Amino acid sequence: MFLKLVFMLFFLVTFVASEDSSFIYNGFQSSHLYLDGIAELTSDGLLRLTNDTGPDTAYAFYPNHIVFKNTSNASVSSFSTTFVFTIKSMYPSISGHGIVFVLSPTKGLPNSLPNQYFGLFNYSNIGNSSNHVFGVELDTRKNFEFDDINDNHVGIDINDLKSANSTPAGYYDDTGRFRNLSLTSGHPMQVWIEYDGVKKKIDVTLAPVSVGFSHKPTQPTLSLTKDLSPILNNRMYVGFSSSTGFIAASHYIHGWSFMVNGQSQNLEISDLPGERVFAEKKKSKFLTVRLPLILLSLVFIITLGVMYYIKLKKFDEVLEDWEHEYGPHRFKFKDLYSATKGFREKGILGVGGFGKVYKGVIPSSKLQVAVKRVSHESRQGIREFVSEIVSIGRLRHRNLVQLYGYCRRKSELLLVYDYMPNGSLDNYLFNQPKVRLNWSQRFRIIKGIASGVVYLHEEWEKVVIHRDIKASNVLLDSEFNSRLGDFGLSRLYDHGADPHTTHLAGTIGYLAPEHIRTGKATKFSDVFSFGAFLLEVVCGRRPLGRVGDNESLILVDYVFECWQRGEILEAKDVNLGTDYVSEEVELVLKLGLLCSHSEPLARPGMRQVVQYLERDIPLPYLFSLSLSSSGLFFGYQVSVEDKTMPYTSVSIAESVLSGGR
Ligand SMILES: *[C@@H]1O[C@H](CO)[C@@H](O)[C@H](O)[C@H]1NC(C)=O
Ligand SMILES: *[C@@H]1O[C@H](CO)[C@@H](O)[C@H](O)[C@H]1NC(C)=O
Ligand SMILES: *[C@@H]1O[C@H](CO)[C@@H](O)[C@H](O)[C@H]1NC(C)=O
Ligand SMILES: *[C@@H]1O[C@H](CO)[C@@H](O)[C@H](O)[C@H]1NC(C)=O
Ligand SMILES: *[C@@H]1O[C@H](CO)[C@@H](O)[C@H](O)[C@H]1NC(C)=O
Ligand SMILES: *[C@@H]1O[C@H](CO)[C@@H](O)[C@H](O)[C@H]1NC(C)=O
Repeated sequence: MFLKLVFMLFFLVTFVASEDSSFIYNGFQSSHLYLDGIAELTSDGLLRLTNDTGPDTAYAFYPNHIVFKNTSNASVSSFSTTFVFTIKSMYPSISGHGIVFVLSPTKGLPNSLPNQYFGLFNYSNIGNSSNHVFGVELDTRKNFEFDDINDNHVGIDINDLKSANSTPAGYYDDTGRFRNLSLTSGHPMQVWIEYDGVKKKIDVTLAPVSVGFSHKPTQPTLSLTKDLSPILNNRMYVGFSSSTGFIAASHYIHGWSFMVNGQSQNLEISDLPGERVFAEKKKSKFLTVRLPLILLSLVFIITLGVMYYIKLKKFDEVLEDWEHEYGPHRFKFKDLYSATKGFREKGILGVGGFGKVYKGVIPSSKLQVAVKRVSHESRQGIREFVSEIVSIGRLRHRNLVQLYGYCRRKSELLLVYDYMPNGSLDNYLFNQPKVRLNWSQRFRIIKGIASGVVYLHEEWEKVVIHRDIKASNVLLDSEFNSRLGDFGLSRLYDHGADPHTTHLAGTIGYLAPEHIRTGKATKFSDVFSFGAFLLEVVCGRRPLGRVGDNESLILVDYVFECWQRGEILEAKDVNLGTDYVSEEVELVLKLGLLCSHSEPLARPGMRQVVQYLERDIPLPYLFSLSLSSSGLFFGYQVSVEDKTMPYTSVSIAESVLSGGR
């Protein structure tokens, strides 16, 4: 009994005295990591910090604390760590937000924000030296507010996300040449982080991992001379923090090792889990290289076939019994063929996501028309669609493009619209347009489209959701009056909730977050698209664009940043020159932000939008919206506490609800 007690005591003492000073995970099968947020261990032993959902935070920490110094006035000991990670982004050119290796006083960082905050800080504690947080960020988004250098960088963060030092992602090869790496390439990469407790120097080294092999470059990617002694507590937790925003990515860690007072053990690179990630990589190569080739040749063959078929049966069309009631809206293919002079190339007005548009003149009436040919393979739902088209044909509004009727052929639908001599608005906004629109033209265009959408949402006999409001769907008549076109077409191509379809990816900048999530279009999601439209008209930039060669720009983020700096007018199109009414520009930009709210109910209704534009009612005080530390703005800052939703948004929500029909 006594012996047993002594033994237990001994055991207890040794247990307490033996602090962890190193560990290694060659994969994370059944490991006892502390996980929080959306972090998960996958069945094949990967640590998946985040997946394609967002905005969210994710944490994975070594479960026990690590002693970095024995007394609070002592110096921090040397330490070193290495890990292998992969970032797989939802979309090829844009990702959010990255991974941070972190030393923190606590396991996980409660009350921290996702998005650009990486789950490390919130509005109130960021930059405060009492945080005692040290991090190395692999940042895939450029945030102006943290002075980020680009959207693909490595940074050393001390109590703040304004990095103490940062550099574009890459490594120095054996000849000393710097080689770029793309963090979001979907390929695994290895990171080494070393702190020399004597020289007080931090080195961060990156290198690609190629087929089970990685080699640590001799020259680090990034260094900083800084004594961490005042920053770290005696005992700290080590781990990873990651976050996603409206644009999400999957962040994986394959293996990780760590050591205080020594060199962390080497990872067994070839044994690390991640076949699935690598396999997906192979698949994506198939998707990016071979599939387009196959598709291209398919399209080629089909086109050849179609040409042959057209030659054979030039004027063949499909007419079913149920269509007879639509007689007056039904055009004969023969007429359209001669109207467009045989759909010749010269008559092409534009090529959109849904098909080519041809100019034509109906011989009998001399009516100028635009004929859109939409290829439509599936016969499913065509009946509903045609009935919808016909009912849309009964819509009459000066700001909607008039749809005269349709014609149906095998696997093809032809829609006949009023011809708009000045083409689509995007030609006047993006890529150094030849003709520039001045402010009063733009403002009139905006007001026109707003009233067109009010008609669709509230004034016609049925609620019509447009689903695809954007500059390229706004057409200009001979007097530059704006008319909204193409409604309902996206329904034909609606792939539901799967955000991986290229169609959704193509117009993602206009799609409300809840629309992407649920696949359901509503009045609210139309308002969101309208907000993106407002911003593109004022700023002359697309919602998701590029600045320079490498940087992505999310327009709404950019406008928001300008607004936060108190310089919202900075965001306007430089092509506007000096001839503009700054109150109006400011109003439209702020309204654009308001419509881009991530919370559908906080967006104004379209009727209200018109009232704001006409200055019948003042815009709500934007500041109060952002004041909510819950960060309800734009889906980039997730709501932490919905109940703190500020008074203005609630009142907007209420009026939207009570104003609805
Ligand atoms: C992402 O992970 C979270 C948490 O595990 C889960 O609830 C969600 O369904 C996942 N989403 C997808 C798209 O896999
Ligand atoms: C703390 O003290 C113990 C015992 O003296 C020693 O083994 C350990 O290395 C020290 N740790 C650090 C971080 O200095
Ligand atoms: C550190 O503090 C301890 C008491 O907490 C003291 O005994 C020691 O002298 C101090 N060392 C230095 C270098 O200040
Ligand atoms: C910010 O984070 C700190 C530390 O967790 C917490 O004490 C504080 O309440 C948070 N502030 C807000 C506004 O969430
Ligand atoms: C930093 O945080 C501490 C503790 O939370 C707080 O008392 C202090 O006011 C903060 N400092 C600043 C500048 O916000
Ligand atoms: C590497 O990236 C930088 C900016 O990130 C760019 O200026 C440079 O041209 C790139 N170099 C190569 C070889 O791609």
